[in-house]
Order: sequence, then C-alpha cells, then structure tokens
Amino acid sequence: MTGHEQTRFAIPGVIDLAHEWVAKALARFSDTRRLRVLDLTVGNGHDTSRLAHSVGPTGVVVGCDIQVEALVQTAARLQSLGLMERVRLLQTDHAKLPGQLGCTWRGSVHAAMANLGYLPGGDKSLITRCDTTMRMLDGVLPLLAVHGLLTVVVYTGHPGGTDEAQAVARAAASLNPSHWRVAQVSFPGQLHHPPALFAFERLR
Ligand SMILES: C[S@@+](CC[C@H](N)C(=O)[O-])C[C@H]1O[C@@H](n2cnc3c(N)ncnc32)[C@H](O)[C@@H]1O
Repeated sequence: MTGHEQTRFAIPGVIDLAHEWVAKALARFSDTRRLRVLDLTVGNGHDTSRLAHSVGPTGVVVGCDIQVEALVQTAARLQSLGLMERVRLLQTDHAKLPGQLGCTWRGSVHAAMANLGYLPGGDKSLITRCDTTMRMLDGVLPLLAVHGLLTVVVYTGHPGGTDEAQAVARAAASLNPSHWRVAQVSFPGQLHHPPALFAFERLR
C-alpha cells in the first residue's frame, strides 16, 4: 500500500494492520527487559526496520531470508536508521530457522512476522512455497511466548499463492481455540488481488 492509499482509505492495508497488532502484543510485555521478535522474510527490510524500532534499544530482532540480496538491502536500511545493533540477520530458510535458534527460544518469542511472496523488484522465482511455509508455521508457533503473536501476510496474485493462502487458512482453522486466538483479514472482490492477513495469538 502506498502512502497515498494510507491517507485515502479508512480501512488500513494488511501490513500496517500487522504492525499495529504486533505493537499491541509487544506492549503487553513492556516490563520484559529484552523483547524477542522474528522477521521470517526480511526482503527489503521495511518490516525489519519497523520491528527493530518496536523492540526498543534492549530488544532483539532475528531476521532471515533465503536471498543474500534481501539481507544486503535490509542491512543497509538498518544501518541508515541506526538500528543494526538490535538485529541479527541470517541467510536461511524460515522453515529451518526454529531448529537453528535452539531450544532456549521455545516459548520465548514475543512477536513474529512473515510477509510471504517474492522480493519486490527481485527474482520472482525465489518465492515462499506452500511446503516450507507450513513447516515454518509448525516450527514458529511453539516458539511464541504466551500472549505472543505471529502475523502472516499472504499474496494470491502469483502462481502458487492461492494454494499457499489456503494452506495457511487450513492450518489456522485446525488450531485448538482454547490455546490459540486466530484472525483472518481479507478484501473480497477487490481489484489486483490485495494480500490477506492471518494472525495467531498464543493464549496459553
Ligand atoms: C514479500 S518479500 C518480504 C518483504 C519484507 N518483509 C519487506 O519489508 O521488504 C518476501 C521475501 O521472502 C523471501 N523468502 C522466500 N522464501 C523464503 C523462505 N523459505 N525462507 C525465508 N525467506 C524466504 C524472499 O526472498 C523475499 O525476500
């Protein structure tokens, strides 16, 4: 969503909504010394920068992407904003990240964000895929702290996107509602396949 659209519409776009909900989730951990946040697809670093801002000077964001180009862009953006010290960047598949973080991260992540699809302006063949996205979900949900939040933005305008969105929707619907509060925000009947947002909040 462009800045122009942000002021034109009362209904926010899904990226802004995701950041708003993550900020609300983080506010509930305000007495926690070191906030832990994951960016599961750093891309051009827009989300990573906003997350690094949200965790404050004592917090940490771990960001990953499969593409070196994305990590370079993100590092440059963070450097220019003076936020690099709050962020650890890893070139890895987000399906593998939970295993790489180790067991001390289980139940300790206050928020996580996955903005799926391909790198805008980059190689469109390097795209999130249904199988790895599902493995990422399986691995990241147990990392969340109680009251922690995972947001997932899905795009249906590219090949494979609809399957991926349906798989995320199925995974969301299959969670135990006593343990998880789940939301889906979509824009039915709109032009240009606007993305949809899923959010997973751990209740216990
Ligand atoms: C829509 S972009 C992310 C946008 C980004 N959050 C930003 O603020 O600019 C999606 C990113 O996911 C990355 N990606 C694709 N498959 C991945 C995977 N299996 N693990 C981690 N990153 C992946 C792509 O390389 C791309 O950079």
